[in-house]
Amino acid sequence: MARLLVKDCIIIPITGEVISEGVIAIEDDQLFYVGPARGLPPEWVADEVIEARDRVALPGLINAHTHAAMTLLRNFADDLPLKTWLEEKIWPQEAKLERQDIYWGTQLALLEMLRSGTTTFADMYFHMEAVAEAVIASGMRACLARGLIGYQDRLGLRLRSAEAFARQWQGAGEGRVTTMLGPHAPYTCPPEYLKKVMAAAERVGVGLHIHLAETRGEVEEMRRQYGRTPVELMESLGLFELPAVAAHCVHLTPLEIEILARRGVGVAHCPESNLKLGSGIAPVSEMLSKGVKVGIGTDSAASNNNLDMLEETRLAALLAKGLCQEPTLIPAARALQMATLNGAAALGLEDKIGSLEAGKKADVVLINLKQPHLYPVYDPQASLVYAARGSDVETVIVNGKVLMYKGEVRTIDEDKVMAEVSRCIEKFS
Ligand code: NI
Repeated sequence: MARLLVKDCIIIPITGEVISEGVIAIEDDQLFYVGPARGLPPEWVADEVIEARDRVALPGLINAHTHAAMTLLRNFADDLPLKTWLEEKIWPQEAKLERQDIYWGTQLALLEMLRSGTTTFADMYFHMEAVAEAVIASGMRACLARGLIGYQDRLGLRLRSAEAFARQWQGAGEGRVTTMLGPHAPYTCPPEYLKKVMAAAERVGVGLHIHLAETRGEVEEMRRQYGRTPVELMESLGLFELPAVAAHCVHLTPLEIEILARRGVGVAHCPESNLKLGSGIAPVSEMLSKGVKVGIGTDSAASNNNLDMLEETRLAALLAKGLCQEPTLIPAARALQMATLNGAAALGLEDKIGSLEAGKKADVVLINLKQPHLYPVYDPQASLVYAARGSDVETVIVNGKVLMYKGEVRTIDEDKVMAEVSRCIEKFS
């Protein structure tokens, strides 16, 4: 058994009070003990010790919605409406992408996420075998779904391959990879197609990852075509009887919020992408107060344009305050909970990850607080939400393995990734 001890750090467990000086004892892939040093049995001896004075430890951040390989299209097309951006800029380029491109684009995303404290992400894209291979090699954790666009899949071949992928990769990489089915959105997947996807998800025993109620235009189109709003339409199809994570949920009626809460739908709030594409601001405080499981996602690097979850979390907290003209909304502790435990719940992983508690998987991030922009520290949670940035992350542990130590990523060759990505994007010019 491998025993790793993280010593003398401030601990934000998410599920309990902040521990001003504590230790984290890890056995293999699990948290054995989290708390003050005096609570660790004296006979417990570590094989490896990480000295973490002046560091704050928190659970690995959970990016509840992204398209990792779209790092290849970062800064490719900006300042456009969603429909034009997708149909005229993004989709034509994506049609050129091959398996190897997806692999290297994903590696670039993994590097960026690891460097900024994300340990788990929910991904919807294509060539997902390449994504799964990259995730497994990196040591990170991910919930993967092959994105499905109904009107491009008349014969159902993509759905069949998505189902096979979900079956084959569920639990791969010592359980670090979980799978879902990924119907892209109600406006790209008509009800008949969605029903086929739901049947496939049921056969495999997995949930669904979908974009929902992202723009005003989508809501109007669904109303016109089906006489229902996107969430009402999904409810009428029975889609929420399966575990589901819905990205965006910007335009919701009170009735839709109630449906999302009652059905236990996970929502991936992606504030930066919603702002950049001019989609609007999701009613996050209303959703949280009704008990909706709202996590945070970055969406892709093509609409953000980075995968920095600390930045996204700060924006989520600030937007709710500004939108409702109420500074007490989404306090720092709640914002961090959204970026960790709520994200885990949205992905059905709350028993394994999202908080620092004995028995959970050892996904831990260490941030150095002894830096000019973070000093002094009265409240470490507020310090992280309102002042820290992704680049402050120093050490990252996933499943008990140290993937980054003091800024050195151990599992990904950074120079090689940059070189391969430059080669991949030659086809865009
Ligand atoms: Ni998206």
